[in-house]
Amino acid sequence: MKAAFITRYGALENVQHGEQPKPSPAAGEVLVRMMAASVNPIDYKQVLGELKPLIKPRFPLLLGSDGAGVVVAPAEGFLAGDEVYFRTPLMATGSFAEFISLPAQTLALKPANMSFVEAASLPLVGLTAAQALDKAGLKAGARVLIHAGSGGVGSFAVQYAKAKGAYVATTASAGRVEMLTALGADEIVDYRSERIEDRLSEMDIVLDTLGPAVRAASYKVLKKGGVLVSIQGMPDPETVARMGANPLIRLVARGSAWKQQRAAAKQGAVFKYHWMQESGAELAKIAALVEAGKIKAAIDSEFALKDVRAAFARSASGRVGGKIVIKIQA
Ligand SMILES: NC(=O)c1ccc[n+]([C@@H]2O[C@H](COP(=O)([O-])OP(=O)(O)OC[C@H]3O[C@@H](n4cnc5c(N)ncnc54)[C@H](OP(=O)(O)O)[C@@H]3O)[C@@H](O)[C@H]2O)c1
Repeated sequence: MKAAFITRYGALENVQHGEQPKPSPAAGEVLVRMMAASVNPIDYKQVLGELKPLIKPRFPLLLGSDGAGVVVAPAEGFLAGDEVYFRTPLMATGSFAEFISLPAQTLALKPANMSFVEAASLPLVGLTAAQALDKAGLKAGARVLIHAGSGGVGSFAVQYAKAKGAYVATTASAGRVEMLTALGADEIVDYRSERIEDRLSEMDIVLDTLGPAVRAASYKVLKKGGVLVSIQGMPDPETVARMGANPLIRLVARGSAWKQQRAAAKQGAVFKYHWMQESGAELAKIAALVEAGKIKAAIDSEFALKDVRAAFARSASGRVGGKIVIKIQA
């Protein structure tokens, strides 16, 4: 089958498009014929070797972390012909390919009212945004700031927080106002010309998609006891241990968590880190929100499978509005 893969870490030029063996499903796995898959920053970070300290290399490494397709070899609750979407397990990527074999519990039926391209754009960012905001205690009436609302995670997070009844502020550049208004944002702060602390206060939750650069200002806009939940930077010690990282990295993760929690406590706030967990059951809940009209896809651009390298270059530019999708079958 055709797939996108690397045989060593390095530059984006290392990404190859060529033949790889078609996977054979193990017990409890479902074979899926891929229709579309989305590009996430973790994909190019993996190519550049940025996850090397956390994840043991296994080459050839098939790329692609989520997507949508059609079941061809059924198992555990899924029938041949079912239209599904999924986030792969972290150590079993490979959705930029004509076929992928996945544990049944990572799959859900794709939202019935979405195309494969639209459905493929949601799993990784949807699970990330929903899990991180839920971990931070999202509830109706909460005041939430989402950094980079026009990004993949942000564009889902804005809609998810609105669907749960929150007041949603977000940072974005001026050119993204129309997009974010359509997604339901209540207040948009232009990160290029304004300071969030001049516009916002008494927030219950900040979703940090950008890392240390926005943390000091974010603590200023949180109310006392408010939660900053981050998906950026060194994962929490529990996640790092689960990934099987070496003792030195585990020590670094403990030190980093301690430092972040202390910095937050000094500002009267709480720091939490979230690393997304794949889950078919949670994707089924997201599909229900989509089918209820509460979440839409935000598509930046579409690429063919043979052009994955160009899609990665676009992702690595950091200027993506919504999601890049790789179309695998017409
Ligand atoms: N921990 C986890 O499990 C997890 C899961 C998913 C993602 N992540 C990480 O989370 C980060 C965000 O992912 P993503 O997929 O949302 O990235 P993305 O789609 O590449 O984000 C791009 C967007 O960020 C906006 N942006 C850039 N700098 C900004 C700033 N200073 N203020 C406000 N907006 C800014 C850009 O807007 P303009 O073009 O208008 O400037 C663009 O729309 C990545 O580092 C990713 O690796 C972590």
